Amino acid sequence: MNATESFIKTSKPVVVSTAPLVQLRDVHLAFGATDVLRGIDVEVHRGQAVSIIGPSGSGKSTILRCITGLLRPQRGDIRVGDTAVHTLRGEVELIALRRRVGFVFQQYNLFPHLTVLQNLVIAPTRVAGRSKTEAEQDARSLLEKVKLAHRADAYPGELSGGQQQRVAIARALAMRPQLILFDEVTSALDPETVGDVLTVIRELVREGMTCVLVTHEMRFAEEVSDHVYFTEAGRIVEHGPPAELFNRPRHERTRSFLQRTLGTAAAALRVPASSF
Ligand SMILES: Nc1ncnc2c1ncn2[C@@H]1O[C@H](COP(=O)(O)OP(=O)(O)OP(=O)(O)O)[C@@H](O)[C@H]1O
Ligand SMILES: [Mg+2]
Repeated sequence: MNATESFIKTSKPVVVSTAPLVQLRDVHLAFGATDVLRGIDVEVHRGQAVSIIGPSGSGKSTILRCITGLLRPQRGDIRVGDTAVHTLRGEVELIALRRRVGFVFQQYNLFPHLTVLQNLVIAPTRVAGRSKTEAEQDARSLLEKVKLAHRADAYPGELSGGQQQRVAIARALAMRPQLILFDEVTSALDPETVGDVLTVIRELVREGMTCVLVTHEMRFAEEVSDHVYFTEAGRIVEHGPPAELFNRPRHERTRSFLQRTLGTAAAALRVPASSF
């Protein structure tokens, strides 16, 4: 870690609090006869960045969907602040929860017929009841934050994938959420636009926004996370600070997954001998 990185890590305003902002306890979820989550325990404290890594189909997106109440587990507790998510019924309660929890997906799902600015203003005015002036002011400062102030009047179709994803992040922030969930937000992007999106997330983490990241970008997860969970087949195999999980994994499953994913990434970066 160089001096700048060490400054970034230590300068983050982490709020120490005993109760976690998000807590999943013994969460079980099945689709029909298929067990997808088989006893998940996860904690996220205010101001923390927590990553969930693991093979495809291991349940990572399902965990995020449970946190927003999009899926209801058959067993277990899910809490976001004082809200017992597993007991919520009815759209009104769920909408109130989703105002507090931002969710950014691989597919940005912007409204194609609205400009970038309008995409950011619509939910704060219609759902949160903010005035148009206030919502527009917020939207413009968020666009500055994601380095897209100059594209406020563009339509999503006129932007690159990476730019659309940054608009999607700004749109989630426009609701002033307590935490944001990111589900593979760079997987559908061209490699050259991935960096700009990661920079935006890195900034949010540094400012102390509580973030849960499902990602295949292992090096990024290692760099920005306070804590990392490794999932396999609906279970948490192990979790810990990134320096431990990435450098000294305790379980063979974690070790072989990391070798496979980081090995592939390293191989992709290697310059073929024929190019010399
Ligand atoms: N609506 C659904 N109906 C039935 N099975 C589902 C549904 N959603 C997910 N699954 C199954 O649940 C398992 C976990 O899916 P999930 O999307 O959580 O995995 P993941 O870890 O996010 O994978 P990936 O890295 O590919 O995104 C998979 O086997 C998937 O096929
Ligand atoms: Mg997924």
